[in-house]
Amino acid sequence: MPVSLPLPLALEQFLDVLRCPTCCGRLHLDRCALRCPAGHTFDIARQGYVSLLTGTRALSGDDAAMARARDRFLSTGRYLPIRRAVARLAAEAMPARGTVVDVGCGTGYYLAGVLGHLPDARGLGLDASVRALRSAARAHARAAVATWDVFRPFPLADGVADVVLDVFAPRNPSEFHRVLSPTGRLVVVRPTGRHLAELRGHVRAMVTVDPAKEQRLHRALDPHFEAVATERVEYVTPLTALEALDLVGMTSSARHVSRAEIEIDHHGLLPDRVTVSVLATTYRRR
Ligand SMILES: C[S@@+](CC[C@H](N)C(=O)[O-])C[C@H]1O[C@@H](n2cnc3c(N)ncnc32)[C@H](O)[C@@H]1O
Ligand SMILES: [Zn+2]
Repeated sequence: MPVSLPLPLALEQFLDVLRCPTCCGRLHLDRCALRCPAGHTFDIARQGYVSLLTGTRALSGDDAAMARARDRFLSTGRYLPIRRAVARLAAEAMPARGTVVDVGCGTGYYLAGVLGHLPDARGLGLDASVRALRSAARAHARAAVATWDVFRPFPLADGVADVVLDVFAPRNPSEFHRVLSPTGRLVVVRPTGRHLAELRGHVRAMVTVDPAKEQRLHRALDPHFEAVATERVEYVTPLTALEALDLVGMTSSARHVSRAEIEIDHHGLLPDRVTVSVLATTYRRR
């Protein structure tokens, strides 16, 4: 189980690089909030995340049911090989006392994996889902977490990250570029067309992986980043019916089909093993 230090400590250790989302001023800790010199104030929730995203919220963050499904599924260890690959790639790319920013960190599973590998590193997880961040805030003692919308300028100073992680999450290439140090690395993990193929075959409502997605990724990153290396993590894992339901429930498919529907229509048909297939690419800044 993760060790938990007093909650604001991880956040406190990020104050040198966090910036006020409204005026870009520096933030300081003021009891249960972060505050800038102009008086903009951002509450720190009891659960340990800071709400930097105020006003209009991102619409695409995971809802509570999706975040719960993700928490349950990831705790089974079925994605451990992905977590290990991400941790290794991040560790290879950053100094021991480095800073990693996990964009769309969800429940903090991969961020915690990286920090577990690097005893002197610090991590920041950004996500639009409050429910996911409640878990992320507990995922690792050196993980600070904040609500944020990937598509807005990040609440961070320039060049402060050694690694930006993006695991199955939306991307903002120009902001990735801005917050990375000149020698920093971006690590992007995304599914291949074979990922969860058996499950897609059974659950019609599951969103398929668009074959043009790889091309779109390269086109979007190309002005800012150059790929250094790509690895494929691919294996077959056994799957209980409950795990299969959580796997469907934690993906964007969950937006199109209710858990009850999956259970009624497909319970007896769910596959008992599934292919996990992802690509992990490390990029350097142009
Ligand atoms: C497929 S999940 C991946 C989560 C985590 N990286 C993982 O692999 O376990 C996508 C994540 O992106 C978050 N997300 C979606 N749209 C977002 C946005 N506009 N800004 C910030 N986070 C967003 C969701 O809340 C969710 O946690
Ligand atoms: Zn401010």
